[in-house]
Amino acid sequence: MDFFQYRQNRLMAEQCAVADIARQFGTPLYIYSRATLERHWHAFDKAFGDHPHLICFAVKSNPNIAILNVMAKLGSGFDIVSQGELERVLAAGGEAGKVVFSGVAKTEREIARALDVGIRCFNVESVSELKTINRIAGEKGKIAPISLRVNPDVDAKTHPYISTGLKENKFGISVDEASAVYRLAAELPHIEICGMDCHIGSQLTELQPFLDATDRVLVLMRQLKQDGIELRHLDLGGGLGVSYRNETPPHPTEYTTALLQKLQAYPDLEIILEPGRAITANAGILLSKVEYLKSNESRNFAIVDAGMNDMIRPALYQAYMEIIEVDRTLARRPALYDIVGPICETSDFLGKQRELAIAEGDLIAQRSAGAYGASMSSNYNSRPRTAEVMVDGEQAHLIKRRETYPELWQLEQMLP
Ligand code: LLP
Repeated sequence: MDFFQYRQNRLMAEQCAVADIARQFGTPLYIYSRATLERHWHAFDKAFGDHPHLICFAVKSNPNIAILNVMAKLGSGFDIVSQGELERVLAAGGEAGKVVFSGVAKTEREIARALDVGIRCFNVESVSELKTINRIAGEKGKIAPISLRVNPDVDAKTHPYISTGLKENKFGISVDEASAVYRLAAELPHIEICGMDCHIGSQLTELQPFLDATDRVLVLMRQLKQDGIELRHLDLGGGLGVSYRNETPPHPTEYTTALLQKLQAYPDLEIILEPGRAITANAGILLSKVEYLKSNESRNFAIVDAGMNDMIRPALYQAYMEIIEVDRTLARRPALYDIVGPICETSDFLGKQRELAIAEGDLIAQRSAGAYGASMSSNYNSRPRTAEVMVDGEQAHLIKRRETYPELWQLEQMLP
């Protein structure tokens, strides 16, 4: 459930008319709803009840500091994958002590910075990384808190590009090797073993792969206990899907209830989740203006002012994202359109074969655009990155201004 609904056939973002926001800030434009973000975060947090837990928002899904600040005010933790994300969290008022650091290629500089600010845990993805963390912690006279990212070899049944828990994927340490790596970690003087983590993929629409992965890591946890290695937390990653069209992913409560059932024997084991998409996707829309309509023998095209540089998901994953009219009071004849952008690539589309009642100059909104939209945007075709707005009740706040043209080349320089 989100707060982008029609009121008398005009699309609203909470209490603000989307058309008014477009008039004020221009298009293309990302619009987020604070109430939706908060509602989704609470859905995860409340579902755990008294069981020890920490919701670590996956920053990569939407790293705008206003979003991170909303999360920080809720008491959220953060899942990061780079120093850039760490610096954003700190700039947004997030607590270092609630940050878990994932990612296969943490550099020495990133590890050093994370140790300096005192993050909650490194989610370690290889033996070499473990040794590097141990060495850097030693040089600093610190003890590094770690978890091993275990690859449970479970098919997440999602798009192959966003599946991460299979043997053929680059992520984590295989279940078979994990015990030996934990034993090594236990011997390293500057390492403190805190937990175990896994993340099997993104946009999962079924519970079973999550539960299978949980079973596998629990077996491993029990083996470790026999070896005298006790874990304080289990981090099951992110990945819960959302409904872009007619998928029916489990509700966060359904997911956590099923998890807690499996964890009855572990009342003190803290559970960490790293949801990104489930919090941000339906809390955002990408607004654009129809510049031109044109037709040939086989297709009608609606050419809009947002392109694949603003939203790459359809081009990259053939992702379906719903597209709707902003003003349904206008008298327009519905037709089937390919919604395409201004970029010189055939893959530059927001959606294909969509029935829309639109004319040139009208506004359309691509729904579920709050996750992996702005965060994956680029300047391709020298297009300034779009502005971003967050609505909070009756107020629409600019949370990122539109880039200017000189900013496109401000880091560049000509030869002397
Ligand atoms: N934790 C780890 C270690 C991850 O790699 C990811 C996502 C998450 C948490 C958050 O997953 P979520 O809850 O958002 O599914 N760009 C793609 C999605 C890539 C996800 C990468 N990892 C897309 O637009 O569909």
